[in-house]
Amino acid sequence: MKRTLGTCYYPEHWPEAWWAEDARRMVDLGLTWVRIGEFAWSRIEPAPGDLRWDWLDRAVDVLTAAGLQVVMGTPTATPPRWMLDRHPDMLAVDAQGHPRKFGSRRHYCFSHDGYREDAARIAGLMAERYGDRVGAWQTDNEYGCHDTTISYSDNARRAFQDWLRRRYQSPAQLNEAWGNIFWSMDYDRFDQVDLPNLTVTEPNPAHVMAFRRFASDEVVRFNQAQVAAIRAHSDAPISHNYMGRVLEFDHFAVGADMEIATWDSYPMGFLLDRVPDGDRDAYMRQGDPDFQAFHHDLYRAVGRGRWWVMEQQPGPVNWAPWNPAPLPGMVRLWSWEAFAHGAETVAWFRWRQAPFAQEQQHAGLLRSDSVEAPGYHEAAQVARELADAPDVTPAQAPVALIFDYASQWAWEAQPQGADFDYFGLCLDLYRSLRRLGLSVDILPPDTGDLSGYGLVLVPGLLTIPDVLRGAMAAAEGLVLTGPRCDLKTPELSFRVPLGPDLPGLAARSVMEETFPADTPRPLANTGTVVKWLETLETEAQVIEATLDGTPVLIRDGKRLHLAGWPNRVAADRILGALAVEAGLQVHTLPEGLRIRDTGAERFVFNYAAEARMFDGQEVPAAGVLRLPL
Ligand code: GAL
Repeated sequence: MKRTLGTCYYPEHWPEAWWAEDARRMVDLGLTWVRIGEFAWSRIEPAPGDLRWDWLDRAVDVLTAAGLQVVMGTPTATPPRWMLDRHPDMLAVDAQGHPRKFGSRRHYCFSHDGYREDAARIAGLMAERYGDRVGAWQTDNEYGCHDTTISYSDNARRAFQDWLRRRYQSPAQLNEAWGNIFWSMDYDRFDQVDLPNLTVTEPNPAHVMAFRRFASDEVVRFNQAQVAAIRAHSDAPISHNYMGRVLEFDHFAVGADMEIATWDSYPMGFLLDRVPDGDRDAYMRQGDPDFQAFHHDLYRAVGRGRWWVMEQQPGPVNWAPWNPAPLPGMVRLWSWEAFAHGAETVAWFRWRQAPFAQEQQHAGLLRSDSVEAPGYHEAAQVARELADAPDVTPAQAPVALIFDYASQWAWEAQPQGADFDYFGLCLDLYRSLRRLGLSVDILPPDTGDLSGYGLVLVPGLLTIPDVLRGAMAAAEGLVLTGPRCDLKTPELSFRVPLGPDLPGLAARSVMEETFPADTPRPLANTGTVVKWLETLETEAQVIEATLDGTPVLIRDGKRLHLAGWPNRVAADRILGALAVEAGLQVHTLPEGLRIRDTGAERFVFNYAAEARMFDGQEVPAAGVLRLPL
């Protein structure tokens, strides 16, 4: 496959006289794709039903005539102001009950039927007009970004009640499933069930969990309406651009309806804004060395192998608390890292810096005066390298990590310890695997086949589904669960009485403790456990224990369970030993160096600000090595 490059372009931001020259420069740069349209609704339909396609027709003409392929975005993340007059109750409502107003973007509630219909209408009209002219579609823009998945609106309440009716059939069954007898919370009718905000003290976690499942399903439903409208007129593949660490909806479920998963990668913005335990001192101008890779691997699974970076950071962004410039070389490194993880396309956001509105301080490939910005030159280098390079050969990784959005919602609904963060746990273990030089596949919780994996990690899974249980039992490799695995029913209750043993192990947790991250429990061996520790009743072999003898790592044959959250020293030691036992090639990588193996090559990435050595070769700061395997 030919890997390709692209950029995000907003013809409506620039004089029409510039378009042809912009298109020519994009092609000269070596770009194949240009994404347009995703915020242009007020120009396409300035008043209800008044459709102005002429300018967009001409933009598509100019771009395609230059040889570019268009990704057409549906503009539904930015409904025009008149939409609010048409649907005054379409805004999402925050947990305090305040509507989230017009004046930026993503100002809609996923549960508003009228808005969903208008969104599908505009998507259908665009598909009718451009269906055979575009290379791919993007629905909306970054579902869930700016905390927009969850809405406490009246529309959401009514849709939630319908959802509950379908899930539980009768109020009695809902009461039973949620344990509503506790504090006399029973309902007689579904229309009595409110959303779980503004309660006096904590709402029932089962109520919250149901609401979170519902909120995720609403994103699926909203997206499906657009997908159906597009498919009626176009055979081009459909994608959506997901975000980093947006966990409020099940991306596997949304992605199941589309051909391609894409995501928007802003490594430095992320590090300063949302990476748990990120090392800002070391990586301020590079981004976290594992956060992007984690999402590359995650979205490869969401896209069932087909995925892109739809927006790649080209220079300073505007939205993080601080916005430094990338270290020279990083724009190239991030792009190659995406290809090494299997991206089909990397597109930079955005072509030219906007001189107005919210993102005027956000770099583009061009400055707002059209002069090439530093990122442009690195993009040009990637384009040249891509032209000469052999293709990246996809390969199954030797290690799998199961990732489950519902577990994130569960442990948010019932944190038990202020520091317990499901995503943080998965990222911590992933980081440890990467420090050992291992390549990882992230897989969904309904994975039914684990063949070919030497080591499988199942951290923090609320409930282990039967299909995964079967795959774990049949796995050839070592399977490590925990901590906090299979403790609850999907309704977020303990199994009574204290449930069966952990799958494949004569062991069960009979008590769970949490403690602040800065008061770890030392292990008898090196390292500590932090944040979480289970008391296991077990007949399995105890491999690791705390200094005072509490079992922490147990095993029976190929099945292992971690009862606590290992700190970096413990995780690297434990996972390193398991990988060696599984026959995997483990490395002791210097700080900042990461590798990713494909079918034919080993990519070496240096996230450090200084040169590092790998296998006797120097990798410059922000440098990339490609070695044959
Ligand atoms: C993304 C978004 C873009 C732009 C960009 C700025 O999250 O999709 O529209 O806002 O961030 O970094």
